[in-house]
Amino acid sequence: MTSPDRPDGVTTVRTTAPAHTQAPVPSPQPYISVSGLCVDFETQGHVTRVLNDIHLSVERGGFTSLVGPSGCGKSTLLKVLAGLQAPTLGRVSVGGMTPAEAVRQRRIGLVFQEAALMPWKSAFDNVCLLMEIVGTFGDKEAIRARALELLNIVGLGHAVDRKPSQLSGGMRQRVAIARALALDPEVLMMDEPFGALDAITREEMSDFLLDLWQRTGKTIVFVTHSIDEAVFLSRDVTVMATGPARILECLTVPLAYPRNEDSYATQAFAQTASHLRKRLKEGHRAGRAS
Ligand SMILES: Nc1ncnc2c1ncn2[C@@H]1O[C@H](COP(=O)(O)OP(=O)(O)O)[C@@H](O)[C@H]1O
Ligand SMILES: [Mg+2]
Repeated sequence: MTSPDRPDGVTTVRTTAPAHTQAPVPSPQPYISVSGLCVDFETQGHVTRVLNDIHLSVERGGFTSLVGPSGCGKSTLLKVLAGLQAPTLGRVSVGGMTPAEAVRQRRIGLVFQEAALMPWKSAFDNVCLLMEIVGTFGDKEAIRARALELLNIVGLGHAVDRKPSQLSGGMRQRVAIARALALDPEVLMMDEPFGALDAITREEMSDFLLDLWQRTGKTIVFVTHSIDEAVFLSRDVTVMATGPARILECLTVPLAYPRNEDSYATQAFAQTASHLRKRLKEGHRAGRAS
C-alpha cells in the first residue's frame, strides 16, 4: 500500500508487515533520524550541493539499505550518520544524540568496501587491537576470549592465526565485521561491504550478514548499488536520486524473515526489485537532466 506523499516529497511505501519469525523486533522510536539534511562541498571556490533536504528514519534493530546510482551521495550520507562528515544544514540523531557523541560512546561500528586490516597482524590480533586501545574490555585474557568468540560468530574460528594475505576477500570482510563488532556498537554502518567480492561469495556474505543481524539484534545501515542485495537483506530500502542527492522513496520489503535462497525466486522479490529498478532509473534520468 502506498501512503500519500510526505510534505518533503518522499513517497513512502508501506506493505503489510511481514511475519518476522527470527528477525529483531523493531521498536516504534526511530534509532536514527535525519531531517532537512543538506551537505555542500566546496572545490576550487565552487560550492556544490551533494545532499539536498534528506529525511530518513531507521528503527532500532532495523535493517535499512541506501541504494542509488554511483556518485549520488550514499557514502556522504553514511559519513554524516557516522560522524565523519558535518552537515551543512539539518538535524541528525543517532541513538538520541549527535553522531559525534554516538561515536564517542562507541555506538557506531563501521565496515567499508576494503577490509583495511593490519597486514602484519593475524585475524585474531586485528580483532583484539581496538579493544586493547580502548582499554575497557578487561584484561588480556578477557580480550582474547572476546576476540575468539567474535571470530567464531563470523565463522572464522578455524583461521584465527592467518594473516590478511592468507585470507580470501570474503574472509577478510568477516574479520572487518568482527572488528567492527568488537566494541559492541548498537549500529553497524556498512558502505558497499561486499562490493569487491565475486557474485557467489557476495550471496554467501549476505546469508551470513542476515544470520548475524538476527543473532545480535544490531541496527544495520547498509549502502549498496545492488538492487538484489538490498531487497534480499533489508527490511527497508531508501532509494536515492542524483544531482543533488535526495530521497525518492522509502520502501518496506514485503518479504518475511528468515530469508534464504528461495527468497530470490519469489514474486514479492521480483516485484520489489523491478519497482526499485524503475525508481532508480527515474532518479538517474532526473540527475542527468539537472
Ligand atoms: N570531500 C569531498 N569534496 C568534494 N566533493 C565530494 C567529496 N566527497 C564526495 N564528493 C562528491 O559528492 C558526490 C557524492 O559522492 P559519494 O557520496 O561518494 O557518492 P556514492 O557513494 O553514492 O557513490 C560525488 O559527486 C563526489 O564527487
Ligand atoms: Mg560510495
